[in-house]
Amino acid sequence: MVYQIVYSSISRKVMNSDSIFELLTKAQAFNKEHGITGLLIYHSSVFLQLLEGEEKEVKELYQKILKDPRHSDMLILLEAKSETRLFDIWSMAYKKIEDITPELLGELIQVTKEISKNKKLSDSSKMMKLLKQFRFQM
Ligand SMILES: Cc1cc2nc3c(=O)[nH]c(=O)nc-3n(C[C@H](O)[C@H](O)[C@H](O)COP(=O)(O)O)c2cc1C
Repeated sequence: MVYQIVYSSISRKVMNSDSIFELLTKAQAFNKEHGITGLLIYHSSVFLQLLEGEEKEVKELYQKILKDPRHSDMLILLEAKSETRLFDIWSMAYKKIEDITPELLGELIQVTKEISKNKKLSDSSKMMKLLKQFRFQM
């Protein structure tokens, strides 16, 4: 079984494309070596990340990410076990906000607003649905 975790966090400083690129390059190399795949989204200072892989590997990585000073307020939105990966060929896919459809952007804004305001997501199936839509736009 594949262990999946989705969390949100808030960046401490605005991340420009260079700092995102640096983060991603390192993350992709590490994840590839550890059989971890997933997706990272960054929008309006909110990070959303899906990590999937062997439970032990994912939980260890999550603990490292938790200590990263580039963000705070990490919040687990979804934890699941699945037969299949959502992002099986992406060691860490990254989606630029400019590249998504207006409909998907609308849903993303709704989810990130709810997270920023309530510090939680009332319906975790919303998150899975959103991730699946991203999957189809990669
Ligand atoms: C939002 C966010 C997502 C991250 N995602 C990953 C990731 O998927 N894989 C990874 O190796 N590091 C990721 N990192 C970086 C880790 O927090 C950490 O810097 C990295 O594992 C190196 O840790 P080390 O210096 O203790 O070796 C992420 C950091 C942030 C802020």
